[in-house]
Amino acid sequence: MVFRRTVLSVARSDRLRSLVSGSGVTRGVVNRFVAGEDADSVVAAVRDLTGRGLLASIDHLGEDTLHPEQATGVTRGYVRLLERLAEEGLTPAAEVSVKPTAVGLGLGAEGESLAAANIARICAAARDAGTTVTVDMEAEDAVPATLRIVNGLRGDFPWLGCVLQSYLRRTEGDLAAMARPGARIRLCKGAYAPDPGSAHTDRRDVDAAYVRALRRLMTGPALPMVATHDPRLIEIAGTLAALAHRSTEEFEYQMLYGVRPDEQLRLVDLGARVRVYVPYGRDWYGYLARRLAERPANLAFAARSLVSR
Ligand code: FDA
Repeated sequence: MVFRRTVLSVARSDRLRSLVSGSGVTRGVVNRFVAGEDADSVVAAVRDLTGRGLLASIDHLGEDTLHPEQATGVTRGYVRLLERLAEEGLTPAAEVSVKPTAVGLGLGAEGESLAAANIARICAAARDAGTTVTVDMEAEDAVPATLRIVNGLRGDFPWLGCVLQSYLRRTEGDLAAMARPGARIRLCKGAYAPDPGSAHTDRRDVDAAYVRALRRLMTGPALPMVATHDPRLIEIAGTLAALAHRSTEEFEYQMLYGVRPDEQLRLVDLGARVRVYVPYGRDWYGYLARRLAERPANLAFAARSLVSR
């Protein structure tokens, strides 16, 4: 947690951002975690994944939306992408994931209703394309509004998914409220730097909270989406699913693009549903910083790519 907080706070430096984004230094690192900068690249990456029996959830990167027009632009990008996925025959295997701040949540008093309206447009396009949407969970201050938005849209789009983060103490209560029949819940550990007062700070506590939430999800009426690369949690998820008599259609494993690809295929070979979260777009900096903050080995990989230029 301390490592993550340090890397994330260093990554917030504007100087570092412009140095990294402008120099092309990190191309190898970006390519490992991001499927490209345009729709053609992401469509090709998703076609490759689905050809191997995997499912996909595509994230159009962008979390520094400063103007309503920018939020509308991101929304249009999602709508066009969903039309394209349907034309290419990639739905329903591919769905989309949306960050509320990318579609306006951070834009002052009107931000919540703007984000809700934009996510509703994306959901309508997903419905037309025959697929689904999952709303990502961002920093802690965005959680209440994000849950309100999801709850508000579930009437029209009952398949609208949301993410819960096991590092937040509030998640236990949120899970009880959100995991209703037909709901899709993506459970992850959490990738931001939450206030230690409201979050578990010890890895073991985060993992224990994950297992408690998983148990509740597997025995409850919602569709569990097990978003982790952690071998221990993956094994526990399989055991809990079996104990709850869930078939392989009744839960899915989810992992990030470029992370443990062999494990993704191993689970497919066992007959499991496995969805890969595939980010694409030009605004990859924040996403990449979180991947590097998660794991010292990822940071070492980035450092090697810097010195080997
Ligand atoms: P963690 O990083 O704790 O690693 C545990 C173990 O997994 C490691 O010890 C190692 O054994 C194995 N492992 C992990 N990475 C590996 C690698 N690169 N190679 C080999 N082994 C590796 N977060 C958030 O806050 N909001 C969100 O909306 C989302 N959305 C989301 C969607 C999906 C599909 C995923 C998979 C993840 C997210 N996340 C997220 C990110 C999530 O919160 C978390 O930060 C990362 O998944 C990393 O945590 P892990 O559970 O993978 O374990």
